[in-house]
Amino acid sequence: MLETIKKTLKQELEATLSNIYSLPLQVVIEEPKRRDQGDLSIPVFVISKALLIPLPDALKQVISALENSSVRPLLSKIFTLGGFVNLFLDKLAIAKEVIHQFKQGDSIYHANRPLSDKVVCIDYSSPNIAKPFSIGHLRSTIIGHALGNIFEKLGTKVVRINHLGDFGTQFGKTIYAYLHFGDKEAVSKDPINELVKLYVEFNERAKSDPSLDVEARRIFKELELGNVEFLALWQWMRDASLRDYMEVYQLLDVSFDSYAGEAFYNDKMQPIIDDLTQKGLLLEDDGAMIVDLGEQMPPALIQKTDGSTLYITRDLAALFYRKENYHFDECLYVVGNEQRLHFEQIKAVIEKMGYDFSPRVKHINFGLVLQDGKKMSTRKGKIVKLLDVLTEAIRLSLSYIEEKNPDLEDKERIAQKIGVSAVVFNDLKNYRANDFEFDLEGMVKFEGQTGPYLQYTSVRIQSILQAEDFEFNGVIDVSLFDDELYFEMIKQISIYQAIIQKAAEEYAPSVVAKYLLHLASLFNTFYGREKIMVENVLEKNTKKHLLSMVRAILNDGMKLLGMQIIEKM
Ligand code: ARG
Repeated sequence: MLETIKKTLKQELEATLSNIYSLPLQVVIEEPKRRDQGDLSIPVFVISKALLIPLPDALKQVISALENSSVRPLLSKIFTLGGFVNLFLDKLAIAKEVIHQFKQGDSIYHANRPLSDKVVCIDYSSPNIAKPFSIGHLRSTIIGHALGNIFEKLGTKVVRINHLGDFGTQFGKTIYAYLHFGDKEAVSKDPINELVKLYVEFNERAKSDPSLDVEARRIFKELELGNVEFLALWQWMRDASLRDYMEVYQLLDVSFDSYAGEAFYNDKMQPIIDDLTQKGLLLEDDGAMIVDLGEQMPPALIQKTDGSTLYITRDLAALFYRKENYHFDECLYVVGNEQRLHFEQIKAVIEKMGYDFSPRVKHINFGLVLQDGKKMSTRKGKIVKLLDVLTEAIRLSLSYIEEKNPDLEDKERIAQKIGVSAVVFNDLKNYRANDFEFDLEGMVKFEGQTGPYLQYTSVRIQSILQAEDFEFNGVIDVSLFDDELYFEMIKQISIYQAIIQKAAEEYAPSVVAKYLLHLASLFNTFYGREKIMVENVLEKNTKKHLLSMVRAILNDGMKLLGMQIIEKM
């Protein structure tokens, strides 16, 4: 609502004034630093300059335009303050309007669904098969999933793509190791861990026997060419890995529209190589084929000396495939900061090829997960497995429940929802490009800036509302909203839609996360100050209605972030 008022005022002022003076005009609307100076403020010096008129005339014109504005009924006072025109909002009128709209449903907590035919591809999670799902892939999964929800909420069609790392020379090594010194039974029982062990052992042995590498390369080459035996082994490793990852996806409640990984593009690279060749962009460099990207960037290596392709070659094929098949408006890659150069090279290559869609290809980068200030995934030289982390979070949540509310029914299931959501929220409350500390014990607490705090707030409101039958009949005491705290809550409720929009524009779920924390803390201040179950029915209903709106938004926002809603805890 507040955003709508601002937008409307800006548009109307610009239209009216530039029409009178036949000059282009940009109006800025600010919020004054001091509360007692108004809710909104319009600097008029700039307007007088742009319209080439004296300041007093400009002030007069602005005031007259505001007086005639379509949102005038929502403003209580318009006045000049130095070179500014400031105004106060009519709290009661706005509260009424916000509550009315909220009741009508879609416009506030279900953001408007504009009929958009926009399509966004989101490439996220994308773990490497025959390797454990690492904490590094956790961020990609959580951020990508939340972004998908945010875009869908805004009416965008989202294609969720898991670009599995299921191709590359390392599979020649793993297959060689499996065939020569693998234990079939052990691998069947615990595929990923055993395959990792085999890979490590291969590298050990290859140090003293270089012929192993030659063999592994041969196997990979044959795999590329479709050798049936190797292909079956590869397929089996892929299926087994995916089965493991599915456990994590199920816990997180994450799913994908496509699992087309790198191998899928094995037969789709030639047209790109031909296109590059035809355009004279593919250069030979010591037997390898490269695209020169100028001074700013190292060249993109497209084909190795032995003719095999690379990560970037498959990514180029994937990008063109997505363009042709999904007709995306944007293609997003939720991948760590360390691959920045890779995506810059991809964009540079398609630009050199003469295509214009590079600005619509975006690397949605993110930072590291740290523990005691060090990169978590390399701690003690071991890969930290996401499943272990989630299991530990669930265990901690359960012990927390045991301590606080031992009689809670269905403890295990609730602990699972709390633990997983705690990990999700802890990630999303940080701006994605930043590194953050992973403090498992802190993030499952019910207080502080945590996921469980939000869940707990929602549960508390729920139990207040359920304490007696409550059905909102639309009758409220609007005079209560003259109070600063009440009005602040109304203001926050009214900007939910704008918050989602902002999160989408910045590709930053943290915008929603921070907003939810603020809303929850407002509720807690309110609850600490106000008695809800008062004698006066009208007052009680008004308070309950306010709380029910807060709860609806908290739940909706948590769902957007990929958290789970809890009824009791
Ligand atoms: N599998 C890659 C890795 O773990 C991430 C893939 C990201 N997506 C892409 N299209 N390159 O590093």
